[in-house]
Amino acid sequence: MKTKTAASTKAIMTEIVLPNDTNTLGNLMGGRLLHLMDICSAISAHRCSNRTVVTASVNNVSFSSPIKLGDIITVEAKVTRTFNSSMEVFIEVFVEDHRTGEKTLSNNAYYTFVAVDQIGTPIEVPDVVPETEEEQRQFDGALRRRQLSLILAGKMQPGDASELKAIFS
Ligand SMILES: CC(C)(COP(=O)(O)OP(=O)(O)OC[C@H]1O[C@@H](n2cnc3c(N)ncnc32)[C@H](O)[C@@H]1OP(=O)(O)O)[C@@H](O)C(=O)NCCC(=O)NCCS
Repeated sequence: MKTKTAASTKAIMTEIVLPNDTNTLGNLMGGRLLHLMDICSAISAHRCSNRTVVTASVNNVSFSSPIKLGDIITVEAKVTRTFNSSMEVFIEVFVEDHRTGEKTLSNNAYYTFVAVDQIGTPIEVPDVVPETEEEQRQFDGALRRRQLSLILAGKMQPGDASELKAIFS
């Protein structure tokens, strides 16, 4: 199977926060942001696999500061590493303050997608080749994050997580 570069899987989405996206304080609702992150990262996983993809897991996401009505959100997603049928995607959310124009990194997350066929059975995906130092760092950490995610989902025994255990030994 042909390989893909991490850069070729990049997806970017830009949205403005509208009244229907906010709570009664005028702040973007967390679920709305998670939805945008899910869509953008699914596009990235699709670019990697050219297959139907489903979300298998979402890692810990924290919301450190409110995103206000009128702010402009940019979501950027890129596949860090693939395994057999699964792909880890790294997502960064940038917020542009609508009053000052200042752009800051709001939060980031890792999502895992699985490529499936027409009846939902997982299928093989191409390898992703890291090209930059940052892409290599993300690639190296992906196995550890996969093991943690599988343990939390009850799909792996902690004793089998060799890469994760190596951090503590
Ligand atoms: C994700 C899904 C396709 C996995 O199918 P499955 O029959 O459990 O298949 P497997 O156990 O063989 O797992 C397939 C791959 O998913 C990975 N995976 C499954 N659960 C995972 C999790 N919680 N975290 C990370 N990876 C996970 C496995 O490691 C495996 O990866 P690999 O093929 O690269 O080695 C299936 O559980 C599913 O369809 N879930 C619902 C997806 C969905 O609807 N998402 C939207 C939620 S509203």
